[in-house]
Parts: sequence; structure tokens; C-alpha cells
Amino acid sequence: MMPDSAESPLISPEEELAALQRAIARHDRAYHGRDAPEITDAAYDALRRRNAELEALHPELVDDQSPSRRVGSAPSAAFGKIRHRIAMLSLDNAFGETAFREFEARIRRFLGLDAGAQVALVGEPKIDGLSVSLTYEAGTLVHGATRGDGAEGEDVTANLRTLASIPARLAGAAPHLIEVRGEVFLGKADFLALNAAQEAAGLRLFANPRNAAAGSLRQLDVGVTAGRPLAFFAYAAGAVSETVAETHWAYLARLRAWGFSVNPLSERLDGVADAAAFFTRVEQARAGLDYDIDGVVFKVDDLGLQRRLGFAGREPRWAVAWKFPAERAVTVLQDIRVQVGRTGALTPVAWLAPVGVGGVLVTRATLHNEDEIARLDARVGDTVVLQRAGDVIPQIVSVVPERRPDGAAAYVPLAHCPACGSLAVRPPGEVVRRCTGGLVCPAQAVERLVHFCSRRAFDIEGMGEKTVVAFHALGWLGGPADVFRLGAREAELAALEGWGELSARRLVAAIEARRRIGLERFIFALGIRRIGETNAKLLARHYGSFANWRAEMAGAAETGSDARLALGSILRVGEAMAEELVEFFTEPRNRAVVDELAGLLTIEDAVVPGGGGGAASGKVVVFTGTLETMTRPEAKARAEAAGAKVTDSVSKKTDFVVAGKEAGSKAKRAAELGVRVVSEAEWAELLGGPG
Ligand code: IVH
Repeated sequence: MMPDSAESPLISPEEELAALQRAIARHDRAYHGRDAPEITDAAYDALRRRNAELEALHPELVDDQSPSRRVGSAPSAAFGKIRHRIAMLSLDNAFGETAFREFEARIRRFLGLDAGAQVALVGEPKIDGLSVSLTYEAGTLVHGATRGDGAEGEDVTANLRTLASIPARLAGAAPHLIEVRGEVFLGKADFLALNAAQEAAGLRLFANPRNAAAGSLRQLDVGVTAGRPLAFFAYAAGAVSETVAETHWAYLARLRAWGFSVNPLSERLDGVADAAAFFTRVEQARAGLDYDIDGVVFKVDDLGLQRRLGFAGREPRWAVAWKFPAERAVTVLQDIRVQVGRTGALTPVAWLAPVGVGGVLVTRATLHNEDEIARLDARVGDTVVLQRAGDVIPQIVSVVPERRPDGAAAYVPLAHCPACGSLAVRPPGEVVRRCTGGLVCPAQAVERLVHFCSRRAFDIEGMGEKTVVAFHALGWLGGPADVFRLGAREAELAALEGWGELSARRLVAAIEARRRIGLERFIFALGIRRIGETNAKLLARHYGSFANWRAEMAGAAETGSDARLALGSILRVGEAMAEELVEFFTEPRNRAVVDELAGLLTIEDAVVPGGGGGAASGKVVVFTGTLETMTRPEAKARAEAAGAKVTDSVSKKTDFVVAGKEAGSKAKRAAELGVRVVSEAEWAELLGGPG
């Protein structure tokens, strides 16, 4: 069966929360851990919102791993860890003046101030970078850490020391201990120059200045960080051993005196009206600034009041981030084209009539997946509203239905991969459509070949990613079978730069040594989705030989066939895994690659557990009549798991005929041939009891 529909089964809140938790953690790692977000901020926010919604409905399901209990992502293992003396928290957002005025009213209520009383605030541009905490002891910088998960960050001291705007020693008198906090960022012009250099060098581009800053700071080679023009604005304090100021405004002055850069646009404000006017001024100045800002942070100026206000959950009550509305523009959706990722994920991309959004000329936008297209009901020819929220890649927010041209057709998801023509399928419950032709798809070739040769698969020494990439670029590796044809290229290989005769001979020998391979490794090497080492072993043991596995998989591709039912009933083979196998074998080119490989290799039978022991082991069995305690496919699967071979017709080679109800000609034939006929119960006994 080919799951082609967009329908996903109903799932319980528990399952949905678990899925959200995994997805959010994954995107946190991609964003904070690798500085390479996979989805837009808006899509990420939608996941978080859904999580919050479900948690509010089911508070009993909230646990410590809940995304609402964590800030950012755990520090990456590549750096040492530093525990912040005082947690680094985030800010509550206000979208619009009403929300900002509510923030101020909440403060007055909390402090019991009159309606007429004014709360002095400090306004600072909200820099779109990454926050760090700098620890100074006796005026000397001793540690510098990223925010990490808020409690613990990464030790990036050496990297931070390379920033000109971070003093190694504080100028003038300083407390014995102080944690200075602020934002590391990269200017817009420096960001564009960095991306241009990355592109010229064939390296990955950064999505926005913030990711570029994070990526530049979190370099294991400090020399790389030193070569990137990172800047720093100081704006907060963590732990302090003695009072350094009574107000935030006075604290900012001390930061300047110690030698830090403090954002020059920061202002002390007398109340909400003053603050709102400041917001407008900063918004107007935004386009002319050389660095990205995404709003204005307002903080209660009086540090005594800040202490009284304290924190609510992850956020201080005394500060808020009033965010700028996202920049928008209107343009025409000229086409929807599908990109194939290295892992076979199909991503629809919007091709747009070029339009300027926030100073950047935009021609493409990601559409994420087909659900997103359906949600927007975006059609080629539509006029669409675009939004850029800090990211280089913008998103489509909505379509303008009145401007839809006549005859604009709804998007139809591709049934075949645009890169290789293989079937494209969307497993039930998943949002991503995938190409099933991993072994033949050029978009996935390198990834699959690296896996194929890797240690736990074919284990070919010397065929690491670099070599695979190089051979693939030379056109030597169209598919995995070509690995075993490299021997014929030994002379060409020896002539390659950096190779030579000895290395070429070694590689060819390493390849030749792997022409004989166990079935489980062979199955694992194919890189079928969900078939990891454990499942490959399970399948190999169950089917025993390559020939049997291959024949059963071909049979299983037929809906409702015995082979399909038998596959589904193998103990521990889940339905999702069975589907992946079926899809893989439904694609004719995958079958061709498997057969091509089989022709070049000796695939050894798997060792069947209990092969020497059980009474059924090695026996040839025929089932007949209607079985009462199990289905036919189940009986077959269990017999095979016990090491028996199940056939359809009775011959002299048959050891047992298991006769169910109304057993007919087969039982008769067995009697004629003198083959032992057993009842279902006796057979169960032979297998070692029921279950
Ligand atoms: S104060 C406890 N001030 O915004 C509050 N944060 O959304 C500490 N940010 O993690 C933060 N400019 O990375 C503060 N002038 C500013 C800021 C600022 C940018 C960032 C910072 C923080 C995030 C919160």
C-alpha cells in the first residue's frame, strides 16, 4: 500500500506532546547547537505555541523535559561547560503598544503604585545576536560563556578574548566579582561579506547575522573567531560581589567606564508615553543601523524595584522586549518547485516575482511541506504576502484570494522524486514526503554511498566521505555497485593527485576483501529508512538467506499478499518499518540495485538463532486446513523464526504437515508419502509452547 494521502492518524495528546518535545529539542540543537536552523522562526514558534496549548490543557503531562521548562539548548559537548552563578533567562515579548502598556500596568499593580505614578524605564535596542556572560575576578576576565540552556553554557573564554570590545581588564575600580552580560553580534555589512566569502569557498551560508555570529563565536579554532569582526554590547549584570549602582542607567555608565561598549541609542525614559516615543524613534533609525535589531528592550531603571519585582518563570517581571512587526511585502507566486535534500526529503520552494522586503531582494521562499501549502492554499499565479523576520529566507504568510487568477490549480504533491523519478511517498503521521530511490537518486547519492561504505555497513577502509565525494564528482560512483567496479580503475586512481600506486592498491584490496558479506550487514548497508543495525539483524535472522529475503520482499510489495502479512507479523517489526521495506522494494530501480549487488557479491546466510536446538529447526513444514490459534502468515513467521522452512506443497522432503481444520488433499498426500502429520497443538508443542 502506498501512503499517498495527506491524512495523518489521530494521535493522543501524550503522543503529540512527545513528538513536539522531540521536534523542539531537535530544532533547538540545530539552532543553538549547530547554528543551522532547519525551519523558520515562525514555524518554530508555531511548534512552541502548540506545545504550550497542549500543556495548558493537560498539565499532568508536563515533565522536566518539557520545552516550556527549558531555555535554549544544552551546551554542545565540543566545549567545556560553565555553570552560570545566576541563571541567564529570556525576556517576555510584547507585540504592539497595547501589550507594552499592559506590561507597565502589571508592574504598577505588582508594586501597589497609583495609576498616576510613573515608573522610570531604560530603553535599549534589542540586538539580534547571542547573549554571553563574562566573569571578572579582581577586574580580570576569567571566564566567558554562552547562554546554553540558561543554567549552563559553553566555555568560549578563549574565543571571547579575541573581541576588541571585550576588555581583558576592567578600567578603574571594580568589585571583586562581577558577571557582565551582553550581546555578541555581527554587523550587517560584515555578515554579507562573510557569506560572500563562504559562498566563494563553497561553504555553507549563514541564514542571518545572528546565526553567523553564533557560528563565528563557537569555533574550536580560536583563530577563525579572531578573523571574524564580532562586536559586543554590554547591557546587564549577573552575580556581583558588591553593589555597583542603584539604577540600571548608572550601571550602564559604570560599564562604559570599565571599557565596555554600551549601545549609544539607549535612553532613560520617564514613563510609558516617553517609552512609546522612544520605540518609534528606534524603529525609524533601524534601517540606517549597521547591525540587526528586532525590537526595543525596556527595563525598570530602579534596581531596588527590579529586586522587588523578581521573576515569573523564565522571565523577569521588570523587563520586556517590544518587538518590531515583521517586515512584509506582496508579490506573485510564479512557481512551486521541489528540492530534494541529502536525506531524500522533498521540500517545496516558492519561486517569486522579485520583490524588496526590508532592504533585501527576495526571489524564493520556503514552503516547508505540502501541509503548509494546503494550509495557505497557495497556488501558482497567486498574489502572496511575504514576511521576513530577521532571516534571509522569508516565508509566505498568506495569499490574497481576490487576486487569484482564473483557473489557478491547487498544488498536487509530486508522486515521483524530481531528481531521480523514483516514487515519492509520505509515511502516515509524517509531514515530509520522501524519495524512495535513495540508492539511485543523485541528490542522495553521496550520503547513501558514505553510509554504504561505513564501518558498520560494508566497512571499506579508505572510503570515507572525502573519497566518496571525490569519486562521485569524477563520475565513478553512479550507485553502490560501482564501488565494486573501482578495481578496474586502479591505474586511473593511482594517477589521481594525492593517491599513488600504493594507496590505490590498498583501497582496491580493501574493496575486494568485502565482496563476501553477511546478510545483516548487507541489509543495513542499503540504508533503507528505519532499517538500522538492530532491524537489519532481525530481518536477516528471520529470512535466513539473501535469496529468501529477496523473494519475500518482492512478494511483500503486493498488498494483502502472504509475504506482506508475514512481514507485518514478524515479532518486533513495526508497521512503519514494514511499510518502508515495502516502499523500497516497490521502486523497480531499488530492486535492480539490490540484484546488481547480489551479482557482484557473496552474501552469506544469517545465523538463525536456535538453529541447532529447537525441534522445528531445519525442518521443512507445510501448513494445511484452517488454523485456529493463528493466521497462516503468523504461523509461517513463527515457524521461520524457529528455524523451519515453510513450503506450499507436500513432497518427500517435507518433515511435517501441520493440519488445521478441514485439512484436505495435502494431509492425504502426506499420509501417502509417510510424512508425519501433526495437529496445530502438537506443532505449538514442537515450537516450544504457545506464544
Ligand atoms: S536583557 C533577564 N537587554 O534578548 C534579561 N537582552 O529575548 C536579560 N537581548 O537573551 C536580557 N538585546 O540575548 C537584554 N538590550 C538587551 C538585549 C537583550 C538583546 C537578547 C538577549 C536575551 C534575549 C531575550
